[in-house]
Amino acid sequence: MALWGGRFGSGPADSVAALSRSVDFDWRLAPYDIRVNLAHLDGLIAAGVIASGNGEVIRAGLKALGNEILSGKFRYNNSDEDVHSAIERGLVAKIGAIGGALRAGRSRNDLVVTDFKLYLIDHMLEIAALTTELVESFNVQSLATVEIIAPGFTHLQHAQPIVFGHELAKHSQALLRDIDRIGDWLVRNSFSPLGAGALSGSGLQPNPEVSAQALGFDGVLGNSIDAVSDRDFAAEALFVIAMLGVHLSRIGEEFTLWNTTEFSWVVIADEYSTGSSIMPQKKNPDIAELARGKSGRLVGNLTALLTTLKGLPFAYNRDLQEDKEPVFDSVETLLLLLPALTGMVATAKFNGEKISSGAHSGFALATEIADYLAKKSLPFAQAHEIAGQCVRFCESANKELHELTDSELNSIHPELKSDLLGFLTVSGAIASRTSSLGTSIDSVTEQISQLNNATKEAKLWISNEVALFSGMMKP
Ligand code: ARG
Repeated sequence: MALWGGRFGSGPADSVAALSRSVDFDWRLAPYDIRVNLAHLDGLIAAGVIASGNGEVIRAGLKALGNEILSGKFRYNNSDEDVHSAIERGLVAKIGAIGGALRAGRSRNDLVVTDFKLYLIDHMLEIAALTTELVESFNVQSLATVEIIAPGFTHLQHAQPIVFGHELAKHSQALLRDIDRIGDWLVRNSFSPLGAGALSGSGLQPNPEVSAQALGFDGVLGNSIDAVSDRDFAAEALFVIAMLGVHLSRIGEEFTLWNTTEFSWVVIADEYSTGSSIMPQKKNPDIAELARGKSGRLVGNLTALLTTLKGLPFAYNRDLQEDKEPVFDSVETLLLLLPALTGMVATAKFNGEKISSGAHSGFALATEIADYLAKKSLPFAQAHEIAGQCVRFCESANKELHELTDSELNSIHPELKSDLLGFLTVSGAIASRTSSLGTSIDSVTEQISQLNNATKEAKLWISNEVALFSGMMKP
């Protein structure tokens, strides 16, 4: 059923109806459309546009329809253009022509963007909650591996020794920033567009603050033209999702690398691996690879929406119907990916012996020599040069730095005394890095305890927000 037609001599051509139709994807907004209609109804009753007797009939109809949508009893059909038309059809079928009274004082332009915002708030909170579970699994694994010594890499080359828990805990830091970004996003975007009407506000809906509050928003947007045009909230959500996706991708890449026969740092549990149809021996890290692969579409969806918005005239244009599919796809991709990745991380077994075995190779202690000389007040540039000479000597003598003898050290530079050898151990190098962000075992243990606190805080914040929004205007 179309919500227009009075001024047309005929209905749309089949090709036009097919092009115009969005209900196959925007049906996801149906529960939110019911919520928004209920809030709008209250406004119309308060403004005296709908008599309270009729208002109660409409409210009961909307609630019943809302429940039928949730149970799957009511669905859109082939004649429905979009979710809003389908719901009006369902309401009129239930309570008669009076169902059409709800259209007063609102347009699909403010309705659709309000529905969409509520959908995103719900789902961004769900994504935040799932992300905290991934953070928790990293926190647990980090603490369990805080005493495993590992080579730290730059340029994928051995750089300096670290503890492995430090390596894992870095992911929790990045993921907590993603959760934080969802919080910022919510604060900035918790403003209702309802009441903007087609673009200029409505004389029939004088008090949009009331519906905004009923829907759980912090307030009403400040300009009706902006309210129906604004998709910043969707683009920003897609950025937050893409950034999170990029983090998941880098986690995926790391596990894929660590899972190679050459590394053998991690064993991925059978439930989180897949096999090959031809090579019976294969056990592949497909979850990690999918985490890496799916980030591509998350970045693509952000680009798609920004490109749609660029240069678009203000107020509503039908181009804006293109805002939804990229968002639904990004949201649903994360809802699939996050639990699987969390399971993979939580059940992964790290091979401490293998991880530690290479920690001192690749001249990973060269910085210790430079630091030793710098502590003796040599300018660091000179200290760096001398440490480099030690590396060159070891390369030609085919030995590691900690294998240098007193006399070899002395021949390279007289300030290189025998006490240096006491500093040339991986455990010494690690133990010396005691600053708050450093790799000493104590520092990393403290970092993990702060991560645990931050994760708890995030979970509390999320459950408060979820309670706020889910308590609002449910059918
Ligand atoms: N299906 C449309 C969308 O998703 C709803 C708004 C239609 N408004 C209009 N003036 N044609 O954007």
